[in-house]
Amino acid sequence: MEQGRILKIARMGHPVLRQRAQEVTDPCSSETQQIISDMLATMSDYGTLTGLAAPQVFIPKRIVIFSIPKERSRGTLDEDIPLTIMINPIIEILNQEKFLDWEGCLSLPSLVGEVPRYKHIRYHYLSSTGKQTVKEASLHHARVVQHECDHLDGILFPERMVDLARFSFQEEALTYLLNSNQ
Ligand code: NI
Repeated sequence: MEQGRILKIARMGHPVLRQRAQEVTDPCSSETQQIISDMLATMSDYGTLTGLAAPQVFIPKRIVIFSIPKERSRGTLDEDIPLTIMINPIIEILNQEKFLDWEGCLSLPSLVGEVPRYKHIRYHYLSSTGKQTVKEASLHHARVVQHECDHLDGILFPERMVDLARFSFQEEALTYLLNSNQ
């Protein structure tokens, strides 16, 4: 495998972000491993990125990577969620309870929105070595998994919003919207 390459990011409006991504049939192939390696290089180049889905780098396959340091979990995690590589992830909703919080996305630079997400989920995926894995997640961890998996179905966070008055540039949101009920 070659060293990871930093890939260009697809932005809202590009059709690759609108289509359903294809299942990966060969998790251990060198092609899949190269995609993962390029996604890791791309994510680490952006520094503060929480997650990245393959369609965001113009690859219409069901691959997601994410990691959540506890200090970026809005106080909902006691420990970091380590780097997780998911192939063909599936989300199971554990109950209908939802919660609102702010999200951003590399494919919508400088924009944020308040999005409802399920509070408790279970998610299934193949690891980068092809191992079937199951985990449960709540709150911010569950939010990140839902946001990233939505990319695999061609859904961007504004489509999940219930109040578009809560869609904003990040700078204005920080000044006028966050932590207030305006
Ligand atoms: Ni995103």
